[in-house]
Amino acid sequence: MSSPTLSGLAQDVRHGLHQTPKRLLSKYFYDEVGSRLFQQIMHLPEYYLTRCEHEILSTYQDEIGAWSRPPFDLVELGAGDGLKTKILLRRWLQLGHDFTYWPIDISADTLAGLGRSLGAELPQLRFQPLQNDYLQALAQLPGHRPKLVLFLGSNIGNFANPEALAFLRALYQVMHPGDGLLIGYDLKKHPATILAAYNDAQGVTKAFNLNILARLNRELLANFDLAAFDHYALYHPELGEARSYLVSQRSQQVALAALDLQIDLGAGEVIHTEVSRKYTSAEMDELVSQAGFVPLRTFLDARRQFADGLFQRGG
Ligand code: AVJ
Repeated sequence: MSSPTLSGLAQDVRHGLHQTPKRLLSKYFYDEVGSRLFQQIMHLPEYYLTRCEHEILSTYQDEIGAWSRPPFDLVELGAGDGLKTKILLRRWLQLGHDFTYWPIDISADTLAGLGRSLGAELPQLRFQPLQNDYLQALAQLPGHRPKLVLFLGSNIGNFANPEALAFLRALYQVMHPGDGLLIGYDLKKHPATILAAYNDAQGVTKAFNLNILARLNRELLANFDLAAFDHYALYHPELGEARSYLVSQRSQQVALAALDLQIDLGAGEVIHTEVSRKYTSAEMDELVSQAGFVPLRTFLDARRQFADGLFQRGG
């Protein structure tokens, strides 16, 4: 039984480490160091996703920009550094649209950095950062202005199969008829191309994965020996799932003092840390339709590696 005074992190870690295989949730990657490592990942030669979506948003900024009817609220789930979103923000400001930008992110450090850069680069922009889980933040939004919800960067890939649909249904509940949804998702492609993106030569993804253990050491008074764990990524082309694991390199015990918990790990035992799911456009349209949204358009990069789907809430 978990005590009611435990933080969300503590409760989730306790639950995950009692599962088979052991699990840690990928949303906990993004402490200050993890957020910085993810910034580095986005610039890696193997990590094509960010460059592809940047190209798509640059190429189709007018098509996407023309869609929304001002005044509106632009809500972004997992805004990160906002680099790609600024393409759209600049365009809408140029057109004189009346809108407020609501960047939502789990990482307070990331949001603070975003707020500083928006203030400096786009002084005319009205914006209000929300540090929270996606759905909790959406429930905090005031009023009922028309919304365009951005869910970019293949963040939707972190949901495994049934959870993605459950999340889209929850999103449907907090949106209104006619509201727009732009989802950036990674397309199924040669498995080797995908695997390389999660197993880069410089080892930045390895450091990103291992950093979750450093976070647990700090925040849950744990004693993970990072040198005793390796990074292992795989891509399963039939499931369309990239997965990341931490592998225990030897038989070992780890204590998490804040949880009053001791765990045993066998040599070669894995802790599952992330799913990054890939879709075809047909699969994404089908999934989003099941949640009550109508597919309007699919935008692709020139090499057709990544997609941004524009959908409208039905009802
Ligand atoms: C931020 C969730 C889109 O899954 O591709 C990058 C995170 N993990 N490399 C992804 C990540 C390992 C990324 N998302």
